[in-house]
Amino acid sequence: MIILDGPSGNGIGKNISKILKMPYASVEYKIFPDGESYIRIPTLPKDDSVVVVQSTFAPQEKHILELVFIADTLKKMGVRQITAVIPYLAYTRQNKSFRENESVGINSVARLLKDSGIDSIVTVEPHTNEIKSVFGAKVKILGTSELFAKALAKVVSNPFVISTDKGDLERAKSLAKLLKCDYDFIEKERDIRTNEVRAKTPIKSDLNGKEAIIFDDVISTGGTIELAARLASSKGAKKIIVAAAHLVMAGDAYERIVNAGVKEIYGTNTVPFPKAKIIDISEEIAKALK
Ligand code: R5P
Repeated sequence: MIILDGPSGNGIGKNISKILKMPYASVEYKIFPDGESYIRIPTLPKDDSVVVVQSTFAPQEKHILELVFIADTLKKMGVRQITAVIPYLAYTRQNKSFRENESVGINSVARLLKDSGIDSIVTVEPHTNEIKSVFGAKVKILGTSELFAKALAKVVSNPFVISTDKGDLERAKSLAKLLKCDYDFIEKERDIRTNEVRAKTPIKSDLNGKEAIIFDDVISTGGTIELAARLASSKGAKKIIVAAAHLVMAGDAYERIVNAGVKEIYGTNTVPFPKAKIIDISEEIAKALK
């Protein structure tokens, strides 16, 4: 097995290859003057199976298409088994039509990846699991509760976990179990025209003297965390910490979150975001590839 970092591998491929002691290469890559991507795969040691690491943070379409170029080229080179490690899988929040004739982005992305010759996928906490409708059992989904619990246990003494979604309670439960503390949730509703979020069900628990850990899979505009942080603060939380696998942080998300009283932001290197405490996900991915 050879590990290959794509242009948006964020160095994770290199880390995995060191952990697994496997041959490593990175894709030759440049941008043409008109903005198109150039991809070339270096000559690889003879092997039937290649693992490509390519995250699909912004610009999402570019990174998805580069992954397609890589897979296509590997097939042309005679590689039989392609595993795509996609630490952050874009479009998983476009998983249904909210209005008539809306595109369902993740379905199109999944088919595109399959058609390019990718056999299996390893990804981290996708917002939804539609990728499985195309790749079936050949998708491995990795969680982040253990990683965050390990890091957070060192900095909290009286934690309390808050989920930003009732439907996502299992993740919060697992983090709370590892941190040996209680958990609660908020229920929000989003105005699909303005993208603003409002509380449908606020936090019921008393957070006096507690470190509130708001746990989410992804932070995009920061609206959800802003809301959750203000609610936690109104319930008396002494410190507000955020942990989210994917720090997409669109626009002024960081400022919104900090202004809402969040003191620390924890994320992973599925998406590059230098202003947070970043936990390396490579070890978990390496374990999944073994
Ligand atoms: C949605 O339910 C997700 O779990 C996140 O809470 C959401 O996508 C975050 O988006 P934003 O940062 O724009 O509120």
